[in-house]
Amino acid sequence: MNSHTMQRAVVASLLSITAAAWAQTSAGLGRADYMDNCASCHGISAKGDGPVGSFLVKPPADLTQIAHRYGGPFPQALLKEVIDGRWSGDRGPHGSRDMPVWGQVFKERAMTQAGDSSTTAEWSASQRVASLVMYLKTLQQP
Ligand code: HEC
Repeated sequence: MNSHTMQRAVVASLLSITAAAWAQTSAGLGRADYMDNCASCHGISAKGDGPVGSFLVKPPADLTQIAHRYGGPFPQALLKEVIDGRWSGDRGPHGSRDMPVWGQVFKERAMTQAGDSSTTAEWSASQRVASLVMYLKTLQQP
């Protein structure tokens, strides 16, 4: 193998590792992200009883009752939009929402902390949101 071929092989293997890491979504990853980013408001049990919640005008939603509230199949696509927040518009009564816009937060973190390109950061943000939704799905109570 000459050094050029070698270089290409290394680049190819790095790319496949990154692609594999990107492709990872799981309820377990979602749970870790939830504890870091969401439990402060929504509570460790996700019942809307986190310590920060009491300072907000609008109480954080009970996330164990989503299936019950929507009464139907678990609304995955809708939740991704709500959590991401960039496309769902300002639906709050005062034209803003108390919930952080996670799509933006995760993307900016990936760009500033990991130095990701905008495209990579966009992808990783959407993977994180997908994992969070998978975790929330496991919490649903009748
Ligand atoms: C600063 C407090 C705060 C944090 C942190 C927070 N939320 Fe929220 N969240 C709220 C509030 C308040 C609401 C109620 C709706 C609103 O503000 O429009 C809400 C609503 C929601 C809803 C809508 C539930 C429904 O039935 O429509 C989901 C889903 C949700 N949050 C998920 C999350 C996830 C996932 C995270 C972590 C990535 C998170 N939240 C972090 C405050 C927070």
